[in-house]
Amino acid sequence: MGDAGRADRQGPGLLGNPSLAALRQRTSAKWRTYPADVLPSFVAEMDFDLATPIIDAVAESMAAGDAGYGHIGRLGEAFAGFAASRLGWSPDPARIFAIPDVMTGITEMITALTPPGSGVVISPPVYSPFFLRIRFAGRRVVEAPLRRRGDGGYELDAEALDRALSQDGVSAYILCSPHNPVGRVWTAQELTMVADTCHARGALVLADEIHAPLVLPGAAQVPFLSLNHPATARAIAFTSASKGWNIPGLKCGLAIAGSPELATVLTERWEVLTPGLLGVHAAVAAFERATGWLDAVLAQLDRNRGLLATLLAGHLPQIRYRPPEASFLAWLDCRELNGAPGGGDDPAAGFLERGRVALASGTDFGAQGRGFARLNMGTTEPLLAEAVRRMTAAMG
Ligand SMILES: Cc1ncc(COP(=O)(O)O)c(C=O)c1O
Repeated sequence: MGDAGRADRQGPGLLGNPSLAALRQRTSAKWRTYPADVLPSFVAEMDFDLATPIIDAVAESMAAGDAGYGHIGRLGEAFAGFAASRLGWSPDPARIFAIPDVMTGITEMITALTPPGSGVVISPPVYSPFFLRIRFAGRRVVEAPLRRRGDGGYELDAEALDRALSQDGVSAYILCSPHNPVGRVWTAQELTMVADTCHARGALVLADEIHAPLVLPGAAQVPFLSLNHPATARAIAFTSASKGWNIPGLKCGLAIAGSPELATVLTERWEVLTPGLLGVHAAVAAFERATGWLDAVLAQLDRNRGLLATLLAGHLPQIRYRPPEASFLAWLDCRELNGAPGGGDDPAAGFLERGRVALASGTDFGAQGRGFARLNMGTTEPLLAEAVRRMTAAMG
């Protein structure tokens, strides 16, 4: 569906300037999890208006009665075009599969490709559903934590990764690239280390690249499958328009197989992996016709990450924060608030109780997140300022 010739408009007005009252009309998890007096800054949804080409594509599908089972349609070609122009990578559309969402794809591939009871390695602090899905799939979580540098930045830890992958019965590594919650965009050198280590240990690589469209100025995404490395033959990448264009409710992600054999595994599981049809139409519109809107988001997020640094320096200087290299999630080291009313192991609890602002708890991302909280910056500047105002009030 949709008019392939219609591009989105350009300019900062694309994102709208929704008020808190207007946003509260939304019925998504972000706006319905907490009572109305709480400012939700936790789950990874953004607060902007949707891109017009996406709205049109979904409306046209509805008007045409086109709401049946999902079919990949042009999604492979649309993503391949986006990847070529924005990520310097030209995946073969024949290796691209539509899936309902990234976590379903990852979980299904764990089930299909790793032995029951085997270990799956992750690098905490990391996206909390990784812990859940590995356990639900009947596999063991094996941790290869990120290394935290003295300046507050994070690195992939080659020794920790090798140690974890060399344990008995370890079968796979879930790479989070860019990394949620620390906001790192891994360098080609770091990714080559991952590829070398996984290849040497015979581990499958599941590369979660859902935040790749949101890499911010100053960093460059290296898709794992774009590496010229034998490890890519035992790798599957996952991505989506859901974070970049804020449409997770439409249920469509992408899995990209690193080899024909892995493509067969995805093909065989077509029934488990059927995407939402509206999500397919929306994702095609996003990748082909809504890059102007994406650029407006990137410019706003670039401003927001700087604004947050200014706000924290002014109001909560005890919180340590390094602006992320991608996406809209700020990983806040609140350990120097310890002993203060908003401090402790779970600073998000204090911010919520006394400030009426909901951040994600650092410990959701692993034990390494004790004393941390994650703030969602995918919002307007006034609402970002309001989040910090509420956090500051919680400390009073
Ligand atoms: C790293 C990462 N992976 C996966 C997801 C969830 O993606 P999906 O809704 O496509 O399962 C998120 C959502 O925030 C995420 O940050």
